Amino acid sequence: MAKARKQYTCQACGAGFPQWAGQCGGCGTWDTLQEEVVATTATAAGGARRTGWAGEVPRSQRLMEVAAAEAPRTPTGIGELDRVLGGGLVQGSVTLIGGDPGIGKSTLLMQAAATLSESLDVLYVTGEESLQQVGLRARRLGAPSAGMSLLAETCVEAIAEAARTEKPGVLIIDSIQTIHSENLQSAPGAVAQLRETAAQLVRLAKQTGIAIFLVGHVTKEGVIAGPRVLEHMVDTVLYFENDAGSRYRVIRAVKNRFGAVNELGVFVMTEGGLKEVRNPSAIFLSKHDAPVSGSAVTVIREGSRPMLLEVQALVDSSHLSNPRRVAVGLEQNRLSMLLAVLHRHAGIAMFDQDVFVNVVGGLRVAETSADLPVLLAALSSFRDRPLQTGLVMFGEVGLAGEVRPVYNGEERLREAAKHGFRRAIVPRDNAPRSLRIEGMEIVPVRRLGEAVDAVND
Ligand code: TYD
Ligand code: MG
Repeated sequence: MAKARKQYTCQACGAGFPQWAGQCGGCGTWDTLQEEVVATTATAAGGARRTGWAGEVPRSQRLMEVAAAEAPRTPTGIGELDRVLGGGLVQGSVTLIGGDPGIGKSTLLMQAAATLSESLDVLYVTGEESLQQVGLRARRLGAPSAGMSLLAETCVEAIAEAARTEKPGVLIIDSIQTIHSENLQSAPGAVAQLRETAAQLVRLAKQTGIAIFLVGHVTKEGVIAGPRVLEHMVDTVLYFENDAGSRYRVIRAVKNRFGAVNELGVFVMTEGGLKEVRNPSAIFLSKHDAPVSGSAVTVIREGSRPMLLEVQALVDSSHLSNPRRVAVGLEQNRLSMLLAVLHRHAGIAMFDQDVFVNVVGGLRVAETSADLPVLLAALSSFRDRPLQTGLVMFGEVGLAGEVRPVYNGEERLREAAKHGFRRAIVPRDNAPRSLRIEGMEIVPVRRLGEAVDAVND
């Protein structure tokens, strides 16, 4: 028998407590505990132990006998989206798309729905906008196709019923925060509701083979609202990341059960919706008329393709006892660490300087290959001496002052050469034997000091 019990659930991390408190004991955030009614089964509450399994005994299967067929994929018709999905939409998969309000989640899914509906039936469930609004947008984005239906509904049980009846190939839920389950009393968007509605939709996808897209709102900190459980439950998590005010939109796969993570898809927002950027290398470089100090160009390799990227630094004398270290698009702690290495191993002290570092284009760089450009950009700003034009660099910098190799060095060099870069400072182990690639001079370095010397001459 089910018994109702009250508990206080943290809306940030999902931890449950018997009593209310100002601060969550799980994750330490303030003012996030909310009362929720949870149903517990009598056996669990009563402590009665299950001693035997009354049902049929499940049979395991030999790994060799498990069918090795690849999950069938349907291309969404949008190449950059297919790329982050790992090569198309997988039947019965659940994909969560997160991003700031107004970044283009609904636009992207509407465009994907339009092309997908040529081969599959698509059901677009809107919990935020009216049918008219969604319909208007669909018309603006291109000819609405016959295979697409709209539904304005927020009750997950009703949505699941509709999906079981209409049997679409793709179901889009815009957004998961507006959907509620009638089994629970808490408000839509509350942790318990997110968990329950997402669980029901995941079950629906696995049982029926419908591919589901969930739109998820993000919090101020940039993570999808609600506990991480949402990310654990789904197969694929995509995030929009971008610069406020930039027209470019970058989607990153942060989790993918059917493909590689950290794959990037690049779009530009136009009057007619999102357009793919097939060759994104040059868009993350700002075009300077004359050489400027504090700017360094590097090649990152996020996912399966290399991309040129500009790192900017501003180093300015500080009036604070604790000078500022601000990193946008990079990890802050890594910046502090790199500055310490620069001091210890190249003798350049910035302890009385404010240091700001920014990755152009709003991209977030997780790769350590950006270490060298970060330091050389900071050094260039510190000395107010521009780096030479046509210079590119990459490499991880270790605590002992060594410059370590990164993956796919040669591929990065070729990409830079293709875009007209003529000189490259690279870790010695990444340097090709001939020290030349398509007319580019390669400067191999083993230690940070050598890299600093290389930009001096
Ligand atoms: P939207 O997809 O509604 O964002 P989200 O669902 O992530 O909140 O995108 C809204 C923004 O995109 C809005 O500011 C207008 C802009 N936009 C265009 O520039 N062109 C278009 O064709 C469309 C549909 C939207
Ligand atoms: Mg929207």
